[in-house]
Amino acid sequence: MVVVLIMFLASRSSFTGVVSHTDSPSSLSGGESADAIPVPWSSYPGVAVLATEPSLLLAAEQLAQSLGLPLAGPGGKGYPLLLVRTPERLELRVVEARGEGPIHVHFAAEDRPGRLRGGRGGHRQLIAAMGSHRRSFSPRVLDATAGLGRDGFILACSGYRVTMVERSPIVAALLADGLERARGDARIAPVVTANLTLLHADALQVMSTTTADARPEVVYLDPMHPPRVKSALVRKEMRRLRAIVGDDADARLLFAAALDHARERVVVKRPRQAESITARAPSYVLTGRSTRYDIYLTGATPAAAAREADHGLAE
Ligand SMILES: C[S@@+](CC[C@H](N)C(=O)[O-])C[C@H]1O[C@@H](n2cnc3c(N)ncnc32)[C@H](O)[C@@H]1O
Repeated sequence: MVVVLIMFLASRSSFTGVVSHTDSPSSLSGGESADAIPVPWSSYPGVAVLATEPSLLLAAEQLAQSLGLPLAGPGGKGYPLLLVRTPERLELRVVEARGEGPIHVHFAAEDRPGRLRGGRGGHRQLIAAMGSHRRSFSPRVLDATAGLGRDGFILACSGYRVTMVERSPIVAALLADGLERARGDARIAPVVTANLTLLHADALQVMSTTTADARPEVVYLDPMHPPRVKSALVRKEMRRLRAIVGDDADARLLFAAALDHARERVVVKRPRQAESITARAPSYVLTGRSTRYDIYLTGATPAAAAREADHGLAE
């Protein structure tokens, strides 16, 4: 049953909804409204929306309507996947994987980079991959594969103005809910409001419709990891996310568009041992314990790129 569900959802992974992004010069500035998801969607017959209590029924109904999903009856019987509105949050429950806990988005004050800098190396590397050593302004980052928003949040807390783009309507709904809750948390509300924006759209479409002035300094890509990677290396949550959104088989197209779009650099996150996203060699690479960042400088002369690579590797 699980296999059938995964195969079915993977076959649904390509974006077929109507893009909600509108071409706007300010689309890459922080703090825009991110909670509306006006994309009609009816491609997941196995998914329904459920409210855990009667007072949440109206909100669940509205969400179901905006996503084009059915509203489940009490208990959610008959649906392998449930998008559940609880008093605390929106969460995705995979009925067959009860032991694993629901998927939700949590932007936690504890994860702010002030703490992370002295702590987890992977996050330091993500920030370093952006070229953090030579910034005198707040660069714009297009996080073209937002997922559950972890990387986007770290970058936003580090001062980058991040536009997260997510094409899966279900993942985008979880993200929008996480953002809304973060705006209610006084410890992170200012940075989330100022620096983190969500677009439910295909990033290819976003890049092709953004005006030249609004092009970001950095395009960040973290497509679903290649299937050959040992599953133990891929975080449990990401494996489940993959069951919902499928493989990002068009990642190379996204990369090609990103190279044209980014003013300064494209940063691609990969599992440490995975091959590069294309045959093109990165300008330099930052390698961590399980993750690697391939950095492609787009705006630099070869000499400047070499200097930049030296700096980046020394960080
Ligand atoms: C591995 S996850 C990203 C995880 C993310 N970096 C994080 O920190 O949570 C990849 C996500 O990118 C999304 N995605 C892939 N291609 C996309 C595209 N062309 N436009 C928008 N989203 C895309 C997928 O739906 C999936 O949710």
